[in-house]
Amino acid sequence: MAEEIKKEPPSTFKVTIDNITIDVAPGTTVLNAARIIGGDVTPPAMCYYSKLKGSGGKCRTCLVEVAAGSTADPRPMPKLVASCRTTVMDGMIVKNITSDKVKDARAGVVEFLLLNHPLDCPICDQAGECHLQDLGYEHGKEGTRYEFKRRTFEKEDIGPYIQLHMTRCILCYRCTYVADQITNKRVHGILDRGEHSEISTYISKAIDNDFSGNMIDVCPVGALTDKTFRFKNRVWFTKPVDAHRNCENPDCCGKTTLWLRGDEVFRVTARKDEWGEVQSFDGKPGWICNTCRFGKKKTADWEVEGLTKISRHSVISQGKYDGLVMPKETVTEVMGGRGPKLLMHIHDESGVNNPAIDLSKINGPAHSDTFDKV
Ligand code: SF4
Ligand code: FES
Repeated sequence: MAEEIKKEPPSTFKVTIDNITIDVAPGTTVLNAARIIGGDVTPPAMCYYSKLKGSGGKCRTCLVEVAAGSTADPRPMPKLVASCRTTVMDGMIVKNITSDKVKDARAGVVEFLLLNHPLDCPICDQAGECHLQDLGYEHGKEGTRYEFKRRTFEKEDIGPYIQLHMTRCILCYRCTYVADQITNKRVHGILDRGEHSEISTYISKAIDNDFSGNMIDVCPVGALTDKTFRFKNRVWFTKPVDAHRNCENPDCCGKTTLWLRGDEVFRVTARKDEWGEVQSFDGKPGWICNTCRFGKKKTADWEVEGLTKISRHSVISQGKYDGLVMPKETVTEVMGGRGPKLLMHIHDESGVNNPAIDLSKINGPAHSDTFDKV
C-alpha cells in the first residue's frame, strides 16, 4: 500500500489584504497582519490593545470582509469578522477599505458607539487625541437617527488622580485589563448588564494603585482623564517632548512624553506608538508608575531627549513637529503671478473699497451701487 505523504504546514501564511499580499507567521490576526502593511489598510481598533491579554472583540470597529477563507477552502466567510480576533489562514483574501460592506458596517458601528456618547468634544480633555473623535470623522455619518434620551449616570469619584466620565465610556474593557494585568489590586470593573453597564469601583473604593494612571493612557475616549491636567490646556497647544528619568520602581520604564507649555510640564504620559498604544522598550510594554506620571511635574526632574514624533493622524501632530513637509507655495499661483505683500494697503489691492466713500456716513450696509456712484 502506498505510504500516505503528509504535507508539512507552511512556516508562513500568505494573506492578501486590500490587494496587498504579505507573509506572516501562523497565529497572526488579520488586524496585526494589516498593521504590518500599515496605512489605510489597517482597520481601526477601539478595544483591541496588543499589550493587554484578552483585549479585543468588544467594539466591532475592526470588522473586515473575508473574500476567501484560505487556499484549501476558498469560500468567502458569510459575515464580516472582527479582524482583531480572526487569525489568518494560508491564502486568505481580506477586504477592508476595498469593501463597501465594511465601510457601511463601520459607519453603523460608529453610529451605535455614538448613540449614548455625549458630543462634548469642545469641553472634553481627550479632544485632539480621542480615537472616537477620529473614528467619527473618518467613518461616521453626519447626523444621528437616535431620538431617545441618552444614558446618564450618578457622578462617581474614583480617586485623586483619575477623573471618570461614565457617559463617555464605550465599554472597551481596556482599563479593567490594565487593572488586572498591571496593577496589583483591581478595585474597579464593569458592573451591571446591557444598557446599564458601567465602569465603577467596588463600593466607591478609590483607585490608588501605583500603576493605575496607565488606565488613562489606554482609554480610547475621554472617559478616564488625568485630574492633574484637566482643563489646564488644550493638548494641541502643548509641546510634547520625549524624556526619561531613573525611576526607582523596577516595573516602571521611566520613559515618558512630557507635554510642555514653555518650561512648565502640564502632563506626563507614557510614550505612544502609531496605533496609540504604549511603546515597547526591550520587548516590554513601557508602562509608567504614578510617581513619574503625577509626581514629577518639573523639567528638572527629567532628562529631555527631544521632540516627540507623533505618527498618529491626530490634530496634535499638525503643524509643528520634526519631519514636517511644508506644502508647495501656491500663493503666487493663486494671485496670478503676483507675490504676496507683507504690508498691503487695502486700497492698492482692492478696487471695491474706494477711499472716497466714507462708509460711516452711509445709511445701512454698503453694496456695489454705493461704489458705482463715485
Ligand atoms: S473607561 Fe475608557 S478604557 Fe475603561 S472601558 Fe470605558 S472607554 Fe474603555
Ligand atoms: S478592535 Fe476588534 S472588536 Fe474592537
